[in-house]
Amino acid sequence: MQKKLRSQSWFGKKGKDGLIYRAWMRNQGIPSYEFEGKPIIGICNTWSELTPCNAHFRELAESVKRGISEAGGFPVEFPVMSLGETLMKPTTMLFRNLASMDVEESIRGNPIDGVVLLCGCDKTTPSLLMGACSVDIPTIVVSGGPMLTGKYRGKNIGTTDIWRFADEVKAGVMSQEALNEAEAGLCRSRGHCAVMGTASSMACMVEALGMSLPGNAAIPAVDAGRKVLAQLSGIRIVEMAKEGLKISDILTRKAFENAIKVNAAVGGSTNFVIHLLAIAGRVGTPLTIDDFDIARSSLPLMVNLQPSGQYFMEDFYYAGGLPAVMREISDHLHKDCITVNGRSVGENIGRAENINTEVIASVNAPFKRDSGVIILKGNICPDGAVIKPNAISEQLRKHSGKAVVFENIEEYKERIDDLDLEVDENSVLVLKNVGPKGYPGMPEVGNMGLPKKLLEKGVTDMVRISDGRMSGTGFGTVVLHVSPEAAEGGNFAVIRSGDTIELDIDQRTLNLVVPEEELTRRKQLFRPQADPISRGYAYLYKRHVEQAHLGADLDFLKGGSGSVVTRDSH
Ligand code: FES
Repeated sequence: MQKKLRSQSWFGKKGKDGLIYRAWMRNQGIPSYEFEGKPIIGICNTWSELTPCNAHFRELAESVKRGISEAGGFPVEFPVMSLGETLMKPTTMLFRNLASMDVEESIRGNPIDGVVLLCGCDKTTPSLLMGACSVDIPTIVVSGGPMLTGKYRGKNIGTTDIWRFADEVKAGVMSQEALNEAEAGLCRSRGHCAVMGTASSMACMVEALGMSLPGNAAIPAVDAGRKVLAQLSGIRIVEMAKEGLKISDILTRKAFENAIKVNAAVGGSTNFVIHLLAIAGRVGTPLTIDDFDIARSSLPLMVNLQPSGQYFMEDFYYAGGLPAVMREISDHLHKDCITVNGRSVGENIGRAENINTEVIASVNAPFKRDSGVIILKGNICPDGAVIKPNAISEQLRKHSGKAVVFENIEEYKERIDDLDLEVDENSVLVLKNVGPKGYPGMPEVGNMGLPKKLLEKGVTDMVRISDGRMSGTGFGTVVLHVSPEAAEGGNFAVIRSGDTIELDIDQRTLNLVVPEEELTRRKQLFRPQADPISRGYAYLYKRHVEQAHLGADLDFLKGGSGSVVTRDSH
């Protein structure tokens, strides 16, 4: 039975108010019958020429519109703040919560019965989903899709190679001319990063949560199948609006558990942790950072994609995409979870095929033993820190070394290549004040480049610890998201160069070997870094952002306010 449409409390009104609502829409040449009982479907668009990964979204929106009209709905496209990872300073993470507020209020305040979220570049997925969760109307996600695989001198390349190229240029192994050539072949088509970085992890996340049609995660942006999926999503959202199938019906605790397992199986980004926690916080589903450490379960890494492996998203699509992975690991999943197409996870993946076991391993012969993320605890990070086990160098799994401390990112940049820096391959690089409050905005600087003098010696990895994040395309023995962050004045804040740090991956521990009395003394002397921010959004953010282990949402944005607007100024 069709539910009462919320848009009718605008367009279905009689008298002056209804006239105003309809008449101004009709100035766009829209006939009145479009408003008569049809589901009005919003298309929440993050198109922007400043978000290159999403620059094709106006075209994608046309396909969604075709589907909406075909199914008897009426599409209305609206823009929201778009977060372009490559251009935006100081870091898009500072603005994830701001964009989510834009999305939330744009959906709630307008006459729409369902919404299609067009998501692509890293933060555009969590920000849109967080905002939509706080309203909770029928919602479906359409991702923009990954770019084609990059090419350089006959080899496949992707975003992950940037880190390698940078180190090779620094070590004098790669020339600037060769780097220019690689740059020209890196981004060959529209779409988001072509590896299992954060954007692809987010696209897998929405599919695993049941928030997109099956197959959404992997179809390349330029493949005709992407437009077909967009059109089918347009058709489906109209049905969802009629059925009243809301986000909260889909995003159950079991759906979050599925997403965590799928992220582990695909070798997804560490950023997944922080974004999923924030999304769960909006829906009100209990989820803690400890829920992410499933590395002791028997779930292996199934997908041979960069940065954990060799292949690219295009290969992933040809191999069967996410449904094939989910079918391989189906014994680990809650197959009864309902998804946006009205079917269960089990029904959606029942006929999925793994076409290429080089790219998607079979569950009996997985790609790697370690998967997911490991949550470390200890006196450096009593609330947790995150490390990606399949990025760790084997010899550093259990490591003790002297800290080389950088109080902020500027100091790191100034000193890291200083030939007089007291550092060797056993040192532990510590970067402070890149957390949610300390930077502010928690930038992706955690996988600090190694000192030039060690790179020249052939060192390729060291233990690195920070309260910041790492690009989903990064790798190495990199401890991230230390909580509480340095700006909060805990033990992490008072680590000094020369202190001994012990990391034990198997025991899940990260400790500072300094007597308790000395730590107490140092903390009494602790003074936070000077705060030059006196106005604007960053001022609000800094005073309300929560710690990384809670998802770094603003405290007053947690939960939702629903879709009902009780006051009306007309
Ligand atoms: Fe947009 Fe990588 S820069 S997804």
